[in-house]
Amino acid sequence: MTTNTRQQQELRHFLTLMDFSSDELKQMTSRSIVLKQMQKSGDIYEPLKNRMLAMIFEKSSTRTRVSFETGMLQFGGGALFLSPRDTQLGRGEPIEDSARVLSQMVDMIMIRTFEHKHLERFAQYSSVPVINALTDSYHPCQLLADMQSYQENRGSIEGKTVAWIGDGNNMCHSYINAARQWGFKLNIACPKGYDPEQSIFAAAGDQVEIIRDPMAAASNTDLVVTDVWTSMGQEEEQAKREKAFAGYIVDDKLMAQADKEALFMHCLPAHRGEEVSASVIEGKQSVVWDEAGNRLHAQKALLEFLMGQTPE
Ligand code: CP
Ligand code: NVA
Repeated sequence: MTTNTRQQQELRHFLTLMDFSSDELKQMTSRSIVLKQMQKSGDIYEPLKNRMLAMIFEKSSTRTRVSFETGMLQFGGGALFLSPRDTQLGRGEPIEDSARVLSQMVDMIMIRTFEHKHLERFAQYSSVPVINALTDSYHPCQLLADMQSYQENRGSIEGKTVAWIGDGNNMCHSYINAARQWGFKLNIACPKGYDPEQSIFAAAGDQVEIIRDPMAAASNTDLVVTDVWTSMGQEEEQAKREKAFAGYIVDDKLMAQADKEALFMHCLPAHRGEEVSASVIEGKQSVVWDEAGNRLHAQKALLEFLMGQTPE
């Protein structure tokens, strides 16, 4: 028996960045950098041997699925891809029942779904850690990778200024939480009608500000971030959104407002010519490939932490 059996461990979920302390998040980033180095050196490290992660995907995914599945395999465990199309979840089995059943068989559960409330309800009934792999409201796993990517390229983000250009969506909400946890200032440039949720925004106090003009919002910033104008589940609004977001493209002119050393990030998938120009995403300031790659390492640090396996 290991010292960290399921019974002995405190049950923690990762539904938003606010579920962890600022120190825990920062330590997780440091650990992720170590795990990345170990992986690149070819070290075999299997702290999650025989552990299973269930992955419920109610929306599409490339990065999230591949990074969680690969991470579990590298850790000596396994991952199960579960889609509502071929599980009883899609045929109306209650969330509460699914959570209790899966908890009997697997060690962690990752969910990508629509309503954040569904995730919360699932977690309430789960006896194993639950991870938010994106809801309509938040995408905290992406922020672990983004914060690591900033640190690796530019050092600490504390005291820096970040510009969010685009929709006040799930990624924007997680950036607001990140501003609180990592201590940076966030300028949000979104068109009227597409603001982040008031309660999430207000909780960050004067660390976040809405500046409608994207050029002004990007001025002298250290990191410029954007995301799609139409998120998963909003496909019917596409034409309306294209009109509303015209002028909110991150292009060379906008990047020229930011600090010379500023980085560009995008969680991907990206639409060149809509929210970002090809020249910016392929340009020298863009770290989008590091950012995508870091999903693997950041989530391995998360999985290790939730299983109580992070070395002292
Ligand atoms: N950024 C992100 O979560 O990508 P996927 O939708 O491909 O998982
Ligand atoms: N805001 C996007 C993020 C995709 C990773 C969406 O929810 O579709």
